[in-house]
Amino acid sequence: MAGVGRYVPERILSNEDLEKMLDTSDEWITTRTGMKRRHIAAPDEATSDLAIRAARDALSRAALEPADIDCYIVATATPDYLFPATACIVASKLGVVGKAAFDIEIACSGFVYGLALASSLVRSGMHRRVMLIGAETLSKIVDYTDRSTAVLFADGAGAVILEQSEEDSFLSCELGSDGTNPEVLYVPAGGSRLPAGAAADKHAHFIQMNGRETFKYAVTKLVESSLTALERAHLTTADLALMIPHQANKRIIDSVAKHLALPPEKVVVDIEEYGNTSAASIPLALFEALEAGRVNKGDVIVFVAFGGGLSWGAVTWKWQ
Ligand code: ACO
Repeated sequence: MAGVGRYVPERILSNEDLEKMLDTSDEWITTRTGMKRRHIAAPDEATSDLAIRAARDALSRAALEPADIDCYIVATATPDYLFPATACIVASKLGVVGKAAFDIEIACSGFVYGLALASSLVRSGMHRRVMLIGAETLSKIVDYTDRSTAVLFADGAGAVILEQSEEDSFLSCELGSDGTNPEVLYVPAGGSRLPAGAAADKHAHFIQMNGRETFKYAVTKLVESSLTALERAHLTTADLALMIPHQANKRIIDSVAKHLALPPEKVVVDIEEYGNTSAASIPLALFEALEAGRVNKGDVIVFVAFGGGLSWGAVTWKWQ
């Protein structure tokens, strides 16, 4: 990756703040999720605003200009609008018009799906450089009267720049989905099934989740997907330097690490500080790992995610 950047909003919502708003406790949230704090966008901050700041950060770290990027992709479940795509707004606000730009929406799996897709665009020779941004303002679709979801979700953005190179960083991927029961984790209203304005209950515009069901499925699929991706790259867990998982729940991550026999020093967890930022969580965690000096040239990393759809995916990556 030529550059990795991030942006998180200034406002912090702590467990103590949530205790004042809901029938919950720091103890419950910490033991059940591992979360302590989360960053929340200002009322006038939309997803593209976060995405642009993360993109600028990645560009400056790569010493590149917006025009050096051939294609902008935003992975998000909270776009500025139903359409147009947030990526179009991001590219234009960065000062470039005429480049390819589009969004992908596959909830928390967005960054991993996006990484597989962006890698294909670069490796096929279609684009020299692609910017992939995972960006979310989940606070805009959280019901702050529902304690089972209000404590989990947060806002943030992470951006990576992929570019053609002699040596391949992308080693393999496994992507999957099961849409049999979309209502396990979804926003009921605002789409074509229940259009905006047609929902009698305004709570239908907020995230609804069967946490227990999601938890079970998440552990199974995160383990299976990681192992399949490793196998496709002719690798085993012993070859892994780092697992960078979607930050949904510390207990989920611990359970996956245990199944894969990965010690804590090989697992990146920043959920305490950022909560669940859906498509932004993996690039944010990658940024943290880089800042902490945990990523070295030649390291094999597995990026693995699970989310609404239901959906999941893993990408194995060699850090160059
Ligand atoms: N504070 C206090 N009590 C609470 C809270 C809260 N914030 N939330 C729920 N509870 C209560 C419940 O009401 C329930 O009480 P009851 O036993 O009296 O009915 C009790 O705690 C246990 O509830 P569970 O839902 O069984 O709690 P669990 O241990 O499963 O933790 C959680 C809930 C944290 C949501 C967990 O199930 C989870 O993390 N699920 C997976 C989430 C996930 O991975 N999502 C996918 C990615 S997100 C995306 O794609 C957008």
